[in-house]
Amino acid sequence: MSQFATGVTVITTRDEQGEPHAMTANAFTSVCLDPPTVLVSVAHSTHTFGFLEKLGRFGVNILGQDQEELGAYFALRPEARKGGVEYSYADAADGLAALENSMVFMGCEVIGSHVYGDHTVYFAEVKEVRQNNHAVPPLMFFRSRWYNPAAE
Ligand SMILES: Cc1cc2nc3c(=O)[nH]c(=O)nc-3n(C[C@H](O)[C@H](O)[C@H](O)COP(=O)(O)O)c2cc1C
Repeated sequence: MSQFATGVTVITTRDEQGEPHAMTANAFTSVCLDPPTVLVSVAHSTHTFGFLEKLGRFGVNILGQDQEELGAYFALRPEARKGGVEYSYADAADGLAALENSMVFMGCEVIGSHVYGDHTVYFAEVKEVRQNNHAVPPLMFFRSRWYNPAAE
């Protein structure tokens, strides 16, 4: 799978206190346009899994190349996130949180899920889209590293 280049998203949910919670994810794809549907595959070992099971909704924030630091930060376990990285959230529809300055935010409602192995795949309908008219290229991941084709 490391030979398959992907974009990078941050999945936003809410924790038990209702605070925004974020996790880096690239197992994300479009499913169909009518109705607008996406899927994300979430490991059972993540905090996001528990929050998502309760909430039934999530945000998808597509990162730009200038947000590599955020992609790395939200890939750490929350205990290992020591701060020093700047980010903020904006309130989105249905109580979701949008990561400010991501290229695109999608507010999604889970319409089905499939448990397989140590992951659950969530199918979700896109209810809200915010585009930030980001001029930078997308953040990419390839061969287990951040990837910038223009720099190769
Ligand atoms: C580029 C990249 C992509 C990732 N994609 C996923 C993914 O699609 N699904 C997943 O469950 N974890 C994925 N992870 C791992 C999570 O980001 C990581 O386990 C994180 O610590 C989980 O945070 P949480 O426990 O606070 O929810 C990815 C990590 C990286 C670096």
